[in-house]
Amino acid sequence: MSTWITICDTCKTESWDAASGRTDGEALAALIEPAAAARGVKTRRVSCLMGCKQGCNVAIQGADKLNYTLGRFEPTAEAAEAIADYAALHQESATGQVPFRQWPQGVKGHFVTRHPPLPSEDA
Ligand code: FES
Repeated sequence: MSTWITICDTCKTESWDAASGRTDGEALAALIEPAAAARGVKTRRVSCLMGCKQGCNVAIQGADKLNYTLGRFEPTAEAAEAIADYAALHQESATGQVPFRQWPQGVKGHFVTRHPPLPSEDA
């Protein structure tokens, strides 16, 4: 089952440079997209994940898996690689849970919420 990285493309960090011509979220998305594609992970952009005060924000989601929101990222290649690495591990996991010892260093301290999978319709 595919893991998706949903990237907020309207996030701005406190150090956002308005003269850059794009938001920090757009900059981070542009870095995550090729890194995720190289790992077989899907991406999409949305405008606002409602975590604006702690941007940049992304969600890591897969059907019937634990899903997560992560924030407080700067739009750097290191952050994008860590997010893509974590998403690839999430995709490999049957439940979406990734053992802490496997977490890329760059995602530690960035988890904001965890969403358990919905019960099946038959439950
Ligand atoms: S602008 Fe990114 S969460 Fe609202």
